[in-house]
This record gives sequence, structure tokens and C-alpha cells, in this order.
Amino acid sequence: MRFTGHIKFKESPKKKMDMVNGDSGSSCELLQAQAQVYNCTFNFLNSMALKCAIQLGIPDVIHNHGQPMTLSKLVTALNIIPNKADSLRRLMRILAHSGFFARQKITSENYEQEEEYFLTPASKLLLKDKPLKAAPFINFILDPIISDPFHLMSTWFQNDDPTLFETANGKPFWDCVAQQPKLNNLFYDAMNTDSELISSVVIKDCKEVFKGLKSLVDVGGGTGAVAKAIASAFPHIKCTVFDLPHIVVDKLQGTTTTDNLEFLGGDMFEAIPSADAVLLKWIIHDWGDEESVKILKRCKEAIPSREKGGKVIIMDIVIEENKKEDDKETMEGQLCFDMMMMGLFNTGKERSVEEWKKLFLDAGFSHFNINPVLGLRSLIELYP
Ligand SMILES: C[S@@+](CC[C@H](N)C(=O)[O-])C[C@H]1O[C@@H](n2cnc3c(N)ncnc32)[C@H](O)[C@@H]1O
Repeated sequence: MRFTGHIKFKESPKKKMDMVNGDSGSSCELLQAQAQVYNCTFNFLNSMALKCAIQLGIPDVIHNHGQPMTLSKLVTALNIIPNKADSLRRLMRILAHSGFFARQKITSENYEQEEEYFLTPASKLLLKDKPLKAAPFINFILDPIISDPFHLMSTWFQNDDPTLFETANGKPFWDCVAQQPKLNNLFYDAMNTDSELISSVVIKDCKEVFKGLKSLVDVGGGTGAVAKAIASAFPHIKCTVFDLPHIVVDKLQGTTTTDNLEFLGGDMFEAIPSADAVLLKWIIHDWGDEESVKILKRCKEAIPSREKGGKVIIMDIVIEENKKEDDKETMEGQLCFDMMMMGLFNTGKERSVEEWKKLFLDAGFSHFNINPVLGLRSLIELYP
């Protein structure tokens, strides 16, 4: 039997519409608009595909294989039901499209064309036993306790609940973190692994930030990953992790083995222990302007004058809305963080340069530098 077929090569959408309608414009725009709606609707499937890859352990299996891995080997290693092998191929295809795996075609020993997969920088961050990780962040954000409330966003806009998290879970986020060990672990695993990655970059590329400091207090320092890294890279800096006693510090006090690191419980709205520098990583974005000014005022009281080396170091997002088109991905990430802050903390938000500047002035600071060197985030140095 002779098989004949006809493939029509893809015309540009505009030309296609010209051919269909005689005029372009409206139909083309209509289909583009529909595609935009469908793409945005389906965004959650990228997240779910990523979650599935982590749960199945795909990155670790490919890594442990030691070389690019074919679909058939992946099916066997992952214990996939054989009739779902093609579904795994389709999962790998969307993950490759999002940049989590790379693919290449090979010819197998039986002269069959096969695809094999290897890791990319993004999927290397999903490996379980590497020091720098991102999977715990995915596990936290995509846990139903965090992601489900977003189905209720429109309800929250029309009710009196302070946060969307409370609309869904009946209690504020910090109460649930304090009371639910599972959420506490998910949250601090995500914070910890983020802190390990960010501090490795800061210590390698931004050493000058710590120049001249003899002491530093990491306010809202959580389980202390950043302070631990600074204490070990700069043994002459005495580091203090300052956080709420009932959430973390009570469990961690006395656990450090280094002389220049300690945990201290307290409330940053009341008083912050004195030091040459105060570090605020992912703190100010949890709070509204009024609370943020209060925290910054407490920071100012805790540090010496600029001449004596006092400063506040902030690691947080600075939104630059007029950035170039090629930075669309950064902007998207920053705006998603902003939605997350809105959902969890209501008054918490990501701020523009102007909004940051207003907070600094209202808290009585005189100078600041913003350095956008931390991916989605910036390193801000703030001086009295
Ligand atoms: C988003 S987490 C950031 C943790 C850490 N800085 C990091 O980036 O991994 C915010 C931290 O602020 C702490 N926190 C909240 N309210 C606080 C308060 N009133 N005083 C001190 N710490 C507080 C929380 O317990 C939590 O550890």
C-alpha cells in the first residue's frame, strides 16, 4: 500500500487569516486573544508537571544514571506502569519546554529513534542530596494549604477577612505555622534552602557588604541558614539569629557549635538587639507600610551611626515595572510573589523603588543603595 499525505506548512497567523478572510486583523487578533486566554488558564499545569517530576524523583533518577537517559530506561527506573510510558514522554516534553530537562534524539541498538533526557541548571536544583536546592520551595507553595486559598480570591475581595489564607483556613498564616508541625516544616524547609542558595551567592559575589562589620543580627532569621553561612565565612563577625521564640528560637537555642553564632528570641516590633548591621531577608515584604516603618525604626535604634559603620542590609524584591521586554520573566516572578504576599499577609507586598524610598525616609534613614544582584531580589544597603 502506498501511503500518501499532504503537509501544509505553517503560514504566519497573519497570512493564514488573510487567506481565510481576505482581510487580516480581526480574526487574527481574535485567535491570538483566545490563545492568550488558554495559555494563562493552563499555567497551573506547568506547576503541576514540576510537582509531579519531584514526587516521582525524575531529576534524581537521571542524575544517578550518570548519563542522558532514554524514555524506556526512565520508565523502568521510575516503576511507571508500561501503558503509561507515552504519558511520561508527554510529561517530559512539557518539562523540557519549560527548561527543566534537555532532550536529544538518538538511534538505539535496534535502529529505532529514541529520545534521551538530561538535566539543566534548573533541574539540578531539584536534586535531593545537593547542597543548593529549590524543591522545598515548590513543595511549600504547591501544598494545598497555600495554593487552594487562591481559588477563593474573589470571595476574599468581597468579605471582611484580613487575609485570603484566613478565608480558606480560618486562622492567620503565622498561627498555623506555630500550631501545625507539617506547615512549619514545609515553610522553614523552603526558607532554609532559599537562604542557603542566596547566602552562597552573597558570600561569593558581594563580600564587600560585610566589610568592617564586627557584629550582625539577622532579624526574623528563621532557622538561621543565612547567619550560619555568614558566621562561618567571616569568623570575626558575631552573628545573632533573632526570631519569635515560640516559632523557631525555642527549638534552636543552644544548638550552635560555633562561637560566633547565637539564637535569641524576641519581637522585632519591640526591640532589636544592638549590632553593627541588621539583616532583613524576606521580612519587610511580609508587612504593610505602617508595620514596615516600625520595624525599620527598631533597626535604626539597634545600629550605630553611618560614620561608625552602622547599616541595614535588606534582601527583598524591588519591582521595576518599566524594565525591558526581555526581563518579562523576572517581572512575572516578582508579580507572582506579590500575589502570594497578598494571599498570605494581606498588607504584605512587593514594592517599587519609590515605595521602598518612602519607607526609608519615613523611618528616618538618609541613604540607600539598591543592587539587583539576587535574581528576582535585590540587595539593599540602608544607612542612618
Ligand atoms: C518569611 S520568613 C523569613 C525567614 C528568613 N529571614 C529567610 O529569609 O529565610 C519571616 C520570619 O519573620 C519571623 N517573624 C515574624 N514576626 C516576627 C516578630 N514580630 N519578631 C521577630 N521575628 C518575626 C517569622 O517567625 C519568620 O521566621
